[in-house]
Amino acid sequence: EMLEKGGFDHFMLKEIYEQPRSIKDCMRGRIYPEEGKVQLGGIKEFAEKLKNIDRIIIVACGTSWHAGLVGEYLIEEYARIPVEVEYASEFRYRNPIITEKDVVIAISQSGETADTMAAIEMAKERGATIFGICNVAGASIPRLTHAGVYTHAGPEIGVASTKAFTAQVTVLTLMAFYMAQQKGTITTSKLIELLTELDHIPEKIQVALESNDLIKEVAEKIKDSTNCLFLGRGSGFPVALEGALKLKEISYIHAEGYPAAEMKHGPIALIDEEMPVVFIATQNSSYEKVISNIQEVKARKGKVIAIVTQGDTEVKKMADYCIEIPDANEAFLPLLATIPLQLLSYHIAVMRGCNVDQPRNLAKSVTVE
Ligand code: G6P
Repeated sequence: EMLEKGGFDHFMLKEIYEQPRSIKDCMRGRIYPEEGKVQLGGIKEFAEKLKNIDRIIIVACGTSWHAGLVGEYLIEEYARIPVEVEYASEFRYRNPIITEKDVVIAISQSGETADTMAAIEMAKERGATIFGICNVAGASIPRLTHAGVYTHAGPEIGVASTKAFTAQVTVLTLMAFYMAQQKGTITTSKLIELLTELDHIPEKIQVALESNDLIKEVAEKIKDSTNCLFLGRGSGFPVALEGALKLKEISYIHAEGYPAAEMKHGPIALIDEEMPVVFIATQNSSYEKVISNIQEVKARKGKVIAIVTQGDTEVKKMADYCIEIPDANEAFLPLLATIPLQLLSYHIAVMRGCNVDQPRNLAKSVTVE
């Protein structure tokens, strides 16, 4: 088993460190930065259909659902197609309005999640076209769908999903660009610019991983907390949700992710010196707004841990701890900001003596309802 872990103490840590590689594998043969072109062989037979769709519905569970929320931002931003993101378990028991013009994207690492499979079957009966985003080749979901794109992240053993999540986000990024290309909502020069940057994201993830020692120090400081809040805006919001899910899954600390601006409608009541608040505070369109949210937390003596853009000076004046990630286009922020949050949860869980790879009561794939 030590051999399988490749020298790492846990599969989760190994999988976190595999991300520069897994994301590269996920993009291989699919992006052509010099030409400004995305090719997704798995869905190419639907290329024409994508020009005329009214709506996309994303269905998933758990971490895959968080990836779906990132996908919503990207698809709406670039392809200008309205997107709804649904928990498969809820969607399957509603009487949703689905037409033949709808495309349903089912996201699943394992490809075996019972609720997601049931949601697919229902949408299929009602005439929708179903795309899958899966990690396990030949699993049940890829067989149920009309077409799909594999994440190619390699086997994920840790119950808490890490590299599968970033690979799902990568595929959704590619899908957003692909749909934009089909619909003509993006110019070739813009695609050249975005794809050139995306091509270098694996190296930036490598840089983000280099904050590991600092993250360990931060983990030491907050490991005994009983609650933790994660806040972000825009596509930083699903990153906050995923950060909170990772922490609660493996360390058993109660954690909540919230859109930073919603804090004033509830979570702010919980803030005191015992409450660590993790902010996604990178330099993008919501930077100034997030700064004022940080001030609100500091005014109530909360402990602020901020994920910031390299070289940031503003947030550093206010936050108790800052963890830097490389600068990037806002589209790629979720891929980078997720990395320190994975490491933070990992170290906290190890320090608390938890079974990181196999947390209590959780299963890698949930094949029953
Ligand atoms: C379980 C796993 C999660 C995963 C979720 C959905 O809860 O512990 O890590 O996100 O199922 O699984 P799927 O395989 O469909 O992505």
